[in-house]
Amino acid sequence: MLEVEVRYRVADFEAVRHRLAEWGVGEAEEMWEADLYFNAPHKDFRTTDEALRLRRTGSSNRLTYKGPRRPGLTKTRPEIEVPLGAGDQAATLAEQFLLALGFRPVATVRKHRWIHRLHRHGFPMAICLDEVDKVGTFVELEILAEETQYDAAQAALLHTAAELNLHDKELRSYLQMVLEAEQGRSMSTRDTVHSIEPVNSGTQAQPPVDVVSSETPVVETIEAVRAAVAAARQAGKSIGFVPTMGALHAGHAALIRAARAECGFVVVSIFVNPTQFGPNEDYSRYPRTLAADRRLCAEVGADLIFAPSVSEMYPAPYRTYVEVKELDEVLCGVSRPGHFRGVCTVVLKLFHIVQPDVAYFGEKDYQQARIVAQMVRDLNVPVQLRTVATVREADGLALSSRNVYLTPAQRQVAPRIYQALLRLRERVATGESDVARLEADLRAELAAIPEARVDYARIVDADTLQPLTTVDSPAVAAVAVFLGATRLIDNIRLK
Ligand code: PAJ
Repeated sequence: MLEVEVRYRVADFEAVRHRLAEWGVGEAEEMWEADLYFNAPHKDFRTTDEALRLRRTGSSNRLTYKGPRRPGLTKTRPEIEVPLGAGDQAATLAEQFLLALGFRPVATVRKHRWIHRLHRHGFPMAICLDEVDKVGTFVELEILAEETQYDAAQAALLHTAAELNLHDKELRSYLQMVLEAEQGRSMSTRDTVHSIEPVNSGTQAQPPVDVVSSETPVVETIEAVRAAVAAARQAGKSIGFVPTMGALHAGHAALIRAARAECGFVVVSIFVNPTQFGPNEDYSRYPRTLAADRRLCAEVGADLIFAPSVSEMYPAPYRTYVEVKELDEVLCGVSRPGHFRGVCTVVLKLFHIVQPDVAYFGEKDYQQARIVAQMVRDLNVPVQLRTVATVREADGLALSSRNVYLTPAQRQVAPRIYQALLRLRERVATGESDVARLEADLRAELAAIPEARVDYARIVDADTLQPLTTVDSPAVAAVAVFLGATRLIDNIRLK
Protein backbone atom coordinates (compact mmCIF):
# COMPACT_ATOMS: atom_id res chain seq x y z
CA MET A 1 0.00 0.00 0.00
CA LEU A 2 0.99 3.60 -0.49
CA GLU A 3 0.53 6.17 2.20
CA VAL A 4 -0.56 9.35 0.41
CA GLU A 5 -0.73 12.33 2.71
CA VAL A 6 -0.57 16.08 2.83
CA ARG A 7 -0.02 18.28 5.87
CA TYR A 8 -0.91 21.88 6.65
CA ARG A 9 0.11 24.12 9.49
CA VAL A 10 -2.85 25.76 11.29
CA ALA A 11 -3.14 28.25 14.15
CA ASP A 12 -5.86 26.16 15.81
CA PHE A 13 -8.37 23.47 14.91
CA GLU A 14 -11.59 25.40 15.38
CA ALA A 15 -12.46 26.16 11.75
CA VAL A 16 -11.58 22.62 10.61
CA ARG A 17 -13.63 21.05 13.40
CA HIS A 18 -16.53 23.30 12.49
CA ARG A 19 -16.38 22.30 8.84
CA LEU A 20 -16.14 18.60 9.65
CA ALA A 21 -19.21 18.91 11.87
CA GLU A 22 -21.05 20.55 8.95
CA TRP A 23 -20.16 17.52 6.83
CA GLY A 24 -21.68 15.28 9.49
CA VAL A 25 -18.35 13.67 10.43
CA GLY A 26 -18.75 11.95 13.81
CA GLU A 27 -16.64 11.93 16.98
CA ALA A 28 -12.88 11.90 16.60
CA GLU A 29 -10.67 9.14 17.98
CA GLU A 30 -8.39 10.87 20.42
CA MET A 31 -4.95 9.48 21.14
CA TRP A 32 -1.50 10.30 22.40
CA GLU A 33 1.33 8.92 20.35
CA ALA A 34 5.04 8.65 21.08
CA ASP A 35 7.11 7.82 17.99
CA LEU A 36 10.70 6.79 18.60
CA TYR A 37 12.67 7.12 15.37
CA PHE A 38 15.82 5.13 14.68
CA ASN A 39 18.75 5.50 12.38
CA ALA A 40 20.07 2.47 10.52
CA PRO A 41 23.45 1.00 11.55
CA HIS A 42 25.26 1.85 8.36
CA LYS A 43 23.20 4.54 6.72
CA ASP A 44 21.67 7.77 7.82
CA PHE A 45 17.93 7.39 7.22
CA ARG A 46 17.51 11.14 7.40
CA THR A 47 19.69 11.62 4.36
CA THR A 48 18.16 8.69 2.45
CA ASP A 49 14.65 9.93 3.27
CA GLU A 50 13.66 6.63 4.86
CA ALA A 51 12.43 6.18 8.42
CA LEU A 52 12.09 3.45 11.00
CA ARG A 53 9.66 4.21 13.75
CA LEU A 54 8.58 2.47 16.93
CA ARG A 55 5.13 3.89 17.62
CA ARG A 56 3.38 3.79 20.95
CA THR A 57 -0.32 4.62 20.90
CA GLY A 58 -1.91 4.12 24.29
CA SER A 59 -0.63 0.65 25.14
CA SER A 60 -0.23 -0.64 21.59
CA ASN A 61 3.10 -0.78 19.75
CA ARG A 62 3.91 -0.87 16.05
CA LEU A 63 7.11 -0.89 14.08
CA THR A 64 6.99 0.93 10.76
CA TYR A 65 9.45 1.25 7.93
CA LYS A 66 8.81 4.14 5.57
CA GLY A 67 10.55 4.24 2.22
CA PRO A 68 11.77 7.36 0.39
CA ARG A 69 9.14 9.83 -0.71
CA ARG A 70 8.24 10.16 -4.34
CA PRO A 71 8.16 13.65 -5.80
CA GLY A 72 4.67 15.11 -6.20
CA LEU A 73 2.06 17.37 -4.71
CA THR A 74 1.48 15.12 -1.73
CA LYS A 75 3.82 13.12 0.48
CA THR A 76 3.75 9.57 -0.78
CA ARG A 77 5.94 6.75 0.39
CA PRO A 78 5.78 2.97 0.59
CA GLU A 79 5.37 1.71 4.10
CA ILE A 80 5.61 -1.64 5.86
CA GLU A 81 4.05 -1.87 9.27
CA VAL A 82 4.59 -4.68 11.79
CA PRO A 83 2.16 -4.88 14.72
CA LEU A 84 3.88 -5.70 18.04
CA GLY A 85 2.54 -6.95 21.35
CA ALA A 86 0.94 -4.40 23.67
CA GLY A 87 2.48 -2.83 26.75
CA ASP A 88 5.80 -1.61 28.02
CA GLN A 89 7.61 -4.91 27.82
CA ALA A 90 6.93 -5.40 24.12
CA ALA A 91 8.13 -1.85 23.43
CA THR A 92 11.28 -2.33 25.48
CA LEU A 93 12.04 -5.65 23.78
CA ALA A 94 11.56 -4.14 20.32
CA GLU A 95 13.87 -1.28 21.23
CA GLN A 96 16.51 -3.62 22.63
CA PHE A 97 16.23 -5.75 19.50
CA LEU A 98 16.87 -2.74 17.27
CA LEU A 99 19.74 -1.49 19.46
CA ALA A 100 21.33 -4.95 19.35
CA LEU A 101 21.25 -4.78 15.56
CA GLY A 102 23.03 -1.44 15.65
CA PHE A 103 20.06 0.85 15.08
CA ARG A 104 20.35 4.12 16.97
CA PRO A 105 17.51 6.20 18.40
CA VAL A 106 17.35 9.64 16.78
CA ALA A 107 14.50 11.46 18.51
CA THR A 108 11.04 10.97 19.92
CA VAL A 109 8.07 12.74 18.36
CA ARG A 110 5.10 13.09 20.68
CA LYS A 111 1.71 14.18 19.57
CA HIS A 112 -1.82 14.51 20.76
CA ARG A 113 -3.94 13.50 17.83
CA TRP A 114 -7.62 13.57 16.96
CA ILE A 115 -8.46 11.34 13.98
CA HIS A 116 -11.61 11.96 12.01
CA ARG A 117 -12.51 9.20 9.55
CA LEU A 118 -14.71 10.00 6.59
CA HIS A 119 -15.45 9.15 2.97
CA ARG A 120 -14.85 11.92 0.49
CA HIS A 121 -14.31 12.16 -3.27
CA GLY A 122 -14.52 8.38 -3.54
CA PHE A 123 -11.95 7.50 -0.85
CA PRO A 124 -11.95 6.54 2.81
CA MET A 125 -9.67 9.13 4.34
CA ALA A 126 -8.34 10.15 7.72
CA ILE A 127 -8.11 13.76 8.78
CA CYS A 128 -5.79 14.06 11.75
CA LEU A 129 -5.65 17.14 13.94
CA ASP A 130 -2.19 16.99 15.47
CA GLU A 131 -0.71 18.90 18.37
CA VAL A 132 2.95 18.01 18.05
CA ASP A 133 5.22 18.58 21.06
CA LYS A 134 7.72 21.37 20.44
CA VAL A 135 6.59 22.11 16.87
CA GLY A 136 2.94 23.22 16.71
CA THR A 137 -0.49 22.31 15.37
CA PHE A 138 -1.17 20.69 12.02
CA VAL A 139 -3.91 19.07 9.99
CA GLU A 140 -2.88 15.98 8.11
CA LEU A 141 -5.04 14.35 5.44
CA GLU A 142 -4.26 10.78 4.57
CA ILE A 143 -5.38 8.00 2.24
CA LEU A 144 -3.98 4.48 2.04
CA ALA A 145 -4.15 3.68 -1.63
CA GLU A 146 -3.20 1.06 -4.16
CA GLU A 147 -0.59 2.14 -6.70
CA THR A 148 -3.25 2.34 -9.44
CA GLN A 149 -5.27 4.85 -7.41
CA TYR A 150 -2.36 7.17 -6.71
CA ASP A 151 -3.39 10.09 -8.93
CA ALA A 152 -7.02 9.98 -7.88
CA ALA A 153 -6.08 9.75 -4.18
CA GLN A 154 -3.79 12.72 -4.53
CA ALA A 155 -6.50 14.78 -6.19
CA ALA A 156 -9.05 13.80 -3.53
CA LEU A 157 -6.72 14.94 -0.74
CA LEU A 158 -5.92 18.28 -2.33
CA HIS A 159 -9.56 18.90 -3.11
CA THR A 160 -10.58 18.14 0.49
CA ALA A 161 -7.80 20.38 1.84
CA ALA A 162 -9.11 23.25 -0.29
CA GLU A 163 -12.63 22.63 1.02
CA LEU A 164 -11.26 22.85 4.56
CA ASN A 165 -9.57 26.13 3.68
CA LEU A 166 -6.10 24.73 4.37
CA HIS A 167 -3.30 26.55 2.58
CA ASP A 168 -0.10 26.63 4.64
CA LYS A 169 1.38 23.36 3.38
CA GLU A 170 4.18 21.91 5.51
CA LEU A 171 6.61 19.73 3.59
CA ARG A 172 8.89 18.74 6.46
CA SER A 173 8.24 15.62 8.49
CA TYR A 174 7.43 15.89 12.19
CA LEU A 175 10.77 14.23 12.88
CA GLN A 176 12.62 16.88 10.89
CA MET A 177 10.77 19.65 12.70
CA VAL A 178 11.44 18.14 16.12
CA LEU A 179 15.14 17.77 15.31
CA GLU A 180 15.29 21.37 14.17
CA ALA A 181 13.48 22.50 17.32
CA GLU A 182 15.86 20.50 19.52
CA GLN A 183 18.77 21.95 17.65
CA GLY A 184 17.53 25.51 18.19
CA ARG A 185 16.39 24.52 21.68
CA SER A 186 14.15 27.54 21.62
CA MET A 187 11.18 25.69 22.96
CA SER A 188 10.17 24.23 26.31
CA THR A 189 12.51 23.23 29.11
CA ARG A 190 12.98 19.53 29.55
CA ASP A 191 14.19 19.29 33.09
CA THR A 192 11.81 16.64 34.31
CA VAL A 193 12.39 12.92 34.57
CA HIS A 194 9.93 10.90 32.50
CA SER A 195 9.03 7.42 33.50
CA ILE A 196 6.67 4.81 32.19
CA GLU A 197 3.14 5.52 33.24
CA PRO A 198 0.92 2.58 34.15
CA VAL A 199 -0.79 1.61 30.92
CA ASN A 200 -4.33 0.31 30.56
CA SER A 201 -4.98 -2.25 27.90
CA GLY A 202 -8.26 -0.68 26.79
CA THR A 203 -8.73 1.82 23.98
CA GLN A 204 -9.01 4.70 26.39
CA ALA A 205 -6.88 7.71 25.50
CA GLN A 206 -3.56 7.74 27.37
CA PRO A 207 -1.06 10.44 28.15
CA PRO A 208 2.23 10.01 26.27
CA VAL A 209 4.59 7.38 27.61
CA ASP A 210 8.30 6.92 27.19
CA VAL A 211 9.39 3.64 25.72
CA VAL A 212 12.22 3.11 28.18
CA SER A 213 12.07 3.71 31.87
CA SER A 214 14.45 6.37 33.10
CA GLU A 215 16.23 9.37 31.72
CA THR A 216 18.73 11.70 33.30
CA PRO A 217 17.32 15.16 34.09
CA VAL A 218 18.20 17.89 31.64
CA VAL A 219 18.78 21.54 32.44
CA GLU A 220 19.26 24.12 29.74
CA THR A 221 20.38 27.22 31.59
CA ILE A 222 23.66 28.20 33.20
CA GLU A 223 21.76 29.29 36.27
CA ALA A 224 20.11 25.87 36.66
CA VAL A 225 23.30 23.85 36.24
CA ARG A 226 25.13 26.09 38.69
CA ALA A 227 22.34 25.69 41.25
CA ALA A 228 22.41 21.88 40.91
CA VAL A 229 26.20 21.77 41.19
CA ALA A 230 26.16 24.10 44.21
CA ALA A 231 23.62 21.85 45.94
CA ALA A 232 25.75 18.76 45.27
CA ARG A 233 28.83 20.48 46.56
CA GLN A 234 26.95 21.60 49.64
CA ALA A 235 26.10 17.96 50.22
CA GLY A 236 29.82 17.22 50.23
CA LYS A 237 30.01 15.69 46.76
CA SER A 238 32.88 16.12 44.32
CA ILE A 239 31.90 17.18 40.80
CA GLY A 240 32.86 15.12 37.74
CA PHE A 241 32.29 16.57 34.28
CA VAL A 242 32.11 14.99 30.83
CA PRO A 243 31.75 17.50 27.98
CA THR A 244 30.19 16.01 24.83
CA MET A 245 28.32 16.94 21.69
CA GLY A 246 25.72 14.21 22.25
CA ALA A 247 24.80 11.28 19.98
CA LEU A 248 26.30 9.37 22.85
CA HIS A 249 27.85 5.95 22.38
CA ALA A 250 29.94 3.49 24.37
CA GLY A 251 33.00 5.79 24.09
CA HIS A 252 31.15 8.57 25.90
CA ALA A 253 29.74 5.97 28.30
CA ALA A 254 33.29 4.99 29.29
CA LEU A 255 34.03 8.61 30.21
CA ILE A 256 30.82 8.89 32.23
CA ARG A 257 31.55 5.60 34.02
CA ALA A 258 35.04 6.82 34.88
CA ALA A 259 33.51 10.00 36.33
CA ARG A 260 30.90 7.98 38.21
CA ALA A 261 33.60 5.81 39.76
CA GLU A 262 35.52 8.80 41.04
CA CYS A 263 33.06 11.60 41.76
CA GLY A 264 29.92 12.11 43.84
CA PHE A 265 28.00 14.13 41.24
CA VAL A 266 28.42 13.66 37.49
CA VAL A 267 27.45 16.32 34.97
CA VAL A 268 27.41 15.56 31.23
CA SER A 269 27.13 18.49 28.85
CA ILE A 270 25.52 17.97 25.46
CA PHE A 271 26.13 20.88 23.16
CA VAL A 272 26.85 20.76 19.43
CA ASN A 273 29.25 23.66 19.54
CA PRO A 274 28.94 25.77 16.38
CA THR A 275 32.27 27.58 16.86
CA GLN A 276 34.30 24.39 16.34
CA PHE A 277 32.74 23.54 12.97
CA GLY A 278 34.09 25.03 9.76
CA PRO A 279 31.69 26.55 7.22
CA ASN A 280 31.64 23.41 5.07
CA GLU A 281 31.52 20.93 7.92
CA ASP A 282 28.64 18.92 9.32
CA TYR A 283 27.30 21.25 12.04
CA SER A 284 23.71 21.22 10.84
CA ARG A 285 23.58 17.51 10.12
CA TYR A 286 25.53 16.41 13.20
CA PRO A 287 23.34 13.74 14.85
CA ARG A 288 21.15 15.04 17.68
CA THR A 289 19.60 12.32 19.80
CA LEU A 290 18.72 13.86 23.15
CA ALA A 291 16.08 11.31 24.17
CA ALA A 292 18.45 8.37 23.62
CA ASP A 293 21.30 10.30 25.25
CA ARG A 294 19.22 10.75 28.38
CA ARG A 295 18.65 7.03 28.58
CA LEU A 296 22.32 6.23 28.11
CA CYS A 297 23.24 8.78 30.78
CA ALA A 298 20.76 7.20 33.18
CA GLU A 299 22.12 3.73 32.44
CA VAL A 300 25.68 4.69 33.27
CA GLY A 301 24.77 6.83 36.25
CA ALA A 302 25.13 10.49 35.21
CA ASP A 303 23.30 12.81 37.58
CA LEU A 304 22.59 15.75 35.32
CA ILE A 305 22.71 16.72 31.66
CA PHE A 306 23.47 20.32 30.77
CA ALA A 307 22.09 20.93 27.28
CA PRO A 308 22.24 24.66 26.64
CA SER A 309 21.01 26.48 23.56
CA VAL A 310 23.43 28.28 21.27
CA SER A 311 22.19 31.63 22.58
CA GLU A 312 22.71 30.51 26.19
CA MET A 313 26.36 29.74 25.39
CA TYR A 314 27.03 32.53 22.91
CA PRO A 315 24.71 35.44 23.69
CA ALA A 316 25.13 38.20 21.11
CA PRO A 317 27.38 40.08 20.84
CA TYR A 318 29.92 37.33 21.58
CA ARG A 319 33.57 38.38 21.26
CA THR A 320 35.94 36.26 23.36
CA TYR A 321 37.85 33.22 22.09
CA VAL A 322 40.67 31.09 23.49
CA GLU A 323 43.60 29.86 21.41
CA VAL A 324 46.37 27.48 22.35
CA LYS A 325 49.27 28.31 20.08
CA GLU A 326 51.38 25.77 18.16
CA LEU A 327 49.55 22.67 19.38
CA ASP A 328 46.64 23.80 17.19
CA GLU A 329 48.78 24.32 14.10
CA VAL A 330 49.44 20.63 13.44
CA LEU A 331 47.41 17.49 12.61
CA CYS A 332 43.67 18.35 12.68
CA GLY A 333 44.52 22.02 13.13
CA VAL A 334 45.84 22.15 9.55
CA SER A 335 42.71 20.88 7.81
CA ARG A 336 40.25 22.32 10.33
CA PRO A 337 41.41 25.91 10.87
CA GLY A 338 39.69 27.47 13.86
CA HIS A 339 38.45 24.11 15.13
CA PHE A 340 40.53 24.01 18.31
CA ARG A 341 39.86 27.67 18.99
CA GLY A 342 36.16 26.72 19.10
CA VAL A 343 36.87 23.66 21.25
CA CYS A 344 39.02 25.60 23.75
CA THR A 345 36.51 28.43 23.95
CA VAL A 346 33.58 26.16 24.68
CA VAL A 347 35.50 23.88 27.04
CA LEU A 348 36.81 26.80 29.08
CA LYS A 349 33.31 28.29 29.22
CA LEU A 350 31.90 24.93 30.32
CA PHE A 351 34.60 24.65 32.99
CA HIS A 352 33.60 28.06 34.31
CA ILE A 353 29.92 27.18 34.22
CA VAL A 354 30.12 23.73 35.81
CA GLN A 355 33.25 24.30 37.92
CA PRO A 356 34.09 20.61 38.11
CA ASP A 357 36.79 19.04 40.26
CA VAL A 358 37.63 16.51 37.57
CA ALA A 359 36.91 16.52 33.81
CA TYR A 360 37.13 13.54 31.46
CA PHE A 361 38.34 13.43 27.87
CA GLY A 362 38.82 10.58 25.40
CA GLU A 363 42.18 9.55 23.95
CA LYS A 364 40.29 9.09 20.70
CA ASP A 365 40.71 12.87 20.25
CA TYR A 366 44.32 12.88 21.30
CA GLN A 367 45.19 16.35 20.07
CA GLN A 368 42.08 17.80 21.71
CA ALA A 369 43.00 16.25 25.08
CA ARG A 370 46.56 17.60 24.77
CA ILE A 371 45.37 21.09 23.86
CA VAL A 372 42.85 21.21 26.70
CA ALA A 373 45.57 20.09 29.14
CA GLN A 374 47.83 22.89 27.91
CA MET A 375 45.03 25.43 28.24
CA VAL A 376 44.24 24.31 31.78
CA ARG A 377 47.91 24.60 32.69
CA ASP A 378 48.46 27.95 30.99
CA LEU A 379 45.32 29.57 32.35
CA ASN A 380 45.50 28.06 35.86
CA VAL A 381 42.09 26.46 35.58
CA PRO A 382 41.36 24.63 38.85
CA VAL A 383 40.34 21.30 37.33
CA GLN A 384 42.01 17.93 37.17
CA LEU A 385 41.96 16.19 33.81
CA ARG A 386 41.66 12.49 33.10
CA THR A 387 41.96 10.77 29.76
CA VAL A 388 40.14 7.55 28.96
CA ALA A 389 41.31 4.95 26.43
CA THR A 390 39.57 4.78 23.06
CA VAL A 391 36.55 2.50 22.96
CA ARG A 392 36.32 0.48 19.74
CA GLU A 393 33.85 -1.68 17.88
CA ALA A 394 34.63 -5.41 17.94
CA ASP A 395 36.37 -5.01 14.57
CA GLY A 396 38.59 -2.20 15.86
CA LEU A 397 36.85 0.86 14.43
CA ALA A 398 36.99 3.67 17.00
CA LEU A 399 33.48 4.60 18.10
CA SER A 400 32.44 7.98 16.84
CA SER A 401 29.15 9.81 16.52
CA ARG A 402 30.08 10.27 12.86
CA ASN A 403 30.20 6.54 12.10
CA VAL A 404 26.46 6.70 11.30
CA TYR A 405 27.34 8.65 8.16
CA LEU A 406 29.25 5.70 6.68
CA THR A 407 27.68 3.69 3.88
CA PRO A 408 27.67 -0.11 4.39
CA ALA A 409 30.68 -0.41 2.05
CA GLN A 410 32.61 2.31 3.88
CA ARG A 411 31.72 0.83 7.26
CA GLN A 412 33.07 -2.51 6.10
CA VAL A 413 36.50 -1.13 5.21
CA ALA A 414 36.72 1.44 8.04
CA PRO A 415 38.43 -0.98 10.52
CA ARG A 416 41.44 -1.01 8.17
CA ILE A 417 42.40 2.37 9.63
CA TYR A 418 43.04 0.86 13.04
CA GLN A 419 44.60 -2.26 11.51
CA ALA A 420 47.13 -0.02 9.77
CA LEU A 421 47.93 1.67 13.11
CA LEU A 422 48.36 -1.70 14.81
CA ARG A 423 50.76 -2.86 12.08
CA LEU A 424 52.71 0.36 12.44
CA ARG A 425 53.06 -0.16 16.18
CA GLU A 426 54.19 -3.72 15.52
CA ARG A 427 56.92 -2.50 13.19
CA VAL A 428 58.12 0.02 15.77
CA ALA A 429 58.10 -2.70 18.43
CA THR A 430 60.25 -4.90 16.20
CA GLY A 431 62.86 -2.24 15.64
CA GLU A 432 61.87 0.14 12.83
CA SER A 433 62.30 3.72 14.04
CA ASP A 434 62.66 5.79 10.87
CA VAL A 435 59.67 8.13 10.86
CA ALA A 436 59.84 8.99 7.16
CA ARG A 437 59.65 5.32 6.18
CA LEU A 438 56.97 4.50 8.73
CA GLU A 439 54.83 7.45 7.73
CA ALA A 440 55.15 6.70 4.01
CA ASP A 441 54.06 3.09 4.54
CA LEU A 442 51.22 4.09 6.86
CA ARG A 443 49.97 6.62 4.34
CA ALA A 444 50.15 4.09 1.50
CA GLU A 445 48.28 1.52 3.52
CA LEU A 446 45.52 3.99 4.35
CA ALA A 447 45.32 5.25 0.78
CA ALA A 448 44.71 1.69 -0.41
CA ILE A 449 41.42 1.52 1.49
CA PRO A 450 38.56 1.84 -1.02
CA GLU A 451 36.99 5.34 -1.08
CA ALA A 452 39.69 6.62 1.29
CA ARG A 453 41.43 9.96 1.05
CA VAL A 454 44.18 10.48 3.59
CA ASP A 455 44.02 13.87 5.27
CA TYR A 456 47.11 13.23 7.37
CA ALA A 457 49.11 10.30 8.74
CA ARG A 458 51.78 11.54 11.13
CA ILE A 459 54.06 10.31 13.86
CA VAL A 460 54.52 13.06 16.42
CA ASP A 461 55.93 13.72 19.86
CA ALA A 462 53.31 12.58 22.39
CA ASP A 463 53.61 15.78 24.34
CA THR A 464 54.42 18.61 21.92
CA LEU A 465 52.71 17.04 18.87
CA GLN A 466 55.73 18.21 16.83
CA PRO A 467 57.13 16.02 14.02
CA LEU A 468 59.82 13.46 14.85
CA THR A 469 62.52 11.95 12.69
CA THR A 470 63.02 8.82 14.77
CA VAL A 471 60.76 7.05 17.21
CA ASP A 472 62.97 6.99 20.27
CA SER A 473 60.84 8.90 22.78
CA PRO A 474 57.09 8.91 23.66
CA ALA A 475 55.35 9.17 20.29
CA VAL A 476 51.88 8.94 18.85
CA ALA A 477 50.75 8.02 15.37
CA ALA A 478 47.70 10.08 14.48
CA VAL A 479 45.62 9.81 11.33
CA ALA A 480 42.64 11.47 9.71
CA VAL A 481 41.05 9.72 6.76
CA PHE A 482 38.07 10.68 4.68
CA LEU A 483 35.89 7.73 3.70
CA GLY A 484 33.72 9.37 1.10
CA ALA A 485 32.58 12.59 2.79
CA THR A 486 33.06 11.30 6.34
CA ARG A 487 36.23 12.25 8.13
CA LEU A 488 37.43 9.69 10.68
CA ILE A 489 40.31 10.17 13.11
CA ASP A 490 42.25 7.64 15.13
CA ASN A 491 45.59 7.35 16.90
CA ILE A 492 47.85 4.93 18.67
CA ARG A 493 50.66 5.28 21.20
CA LEU A 494 53.95 4.03 19.81
CA LYS A 495 56.18 4.27 22.86
P1 PAJ B 1 32.45 14.49 21.30
O1 PAJ B 1 32.97 14.16 19.97
O2 PAJ B 1 31.01 14.26 21.62
O3 PAJ B 1 33.32 13.71 22.36
C1 PAJ B 1 33.14 13.92 23.74
C2 PAJ B 1 34.24 13.18 24.46
O4 PAJ B 1 34.11 11.78 24.21
C3 PAJ B 1 35.64 13.60 23.99
O5 PAJ B 1 36.49 13.74 25.11
C4 PAJ B 1 36.03 12.44 23.10
O6 PAJ B 1 37.43 12.25 23.04
C5 PAJ B 1 35.35 11.27 23.81
N1 PAJ B 1 35.18 10.13 22.88
C6 PAJ B 1 34.59 10.16 21.67
N2 PAJ B 1 34.69 8.93 21.09
C7 PAJ B 1 35.35 8.14 21.95
C8 PAJ B 1 35.76 6.77 21.93
N3 PAJ B 1 35.51 5.97 20.90
N4 PAJ B 1 36.42 6.29 23.01
C9 PAJ B 1 36.69 7.09 24.07
N5 PAJ B 1 36.32 8.39 24.15
C10 PAJ B 1 35.67 8.91 23.11
O7 PAJ B 1 34.98 16.01 21.59
C11 PAJ B 1 33.94 16.64 21.60
O8 PAJ B 1 32.71 16.06 21.62
C12 PAJ B 1 33.91 18.17 21.60
O9 PAJ B 1 35.02 18.65 20.91
C13 PAJ B 1 33.84 18.79 23.02
C14 PAJ B 1 35.07 18.42 23.86
C15 PAJ B 1 32.58 18.33 23.76
C16 PAJ B 1 33.78 20.32 22.89
O10 PAJ B 1 32.68 20.72 22.16
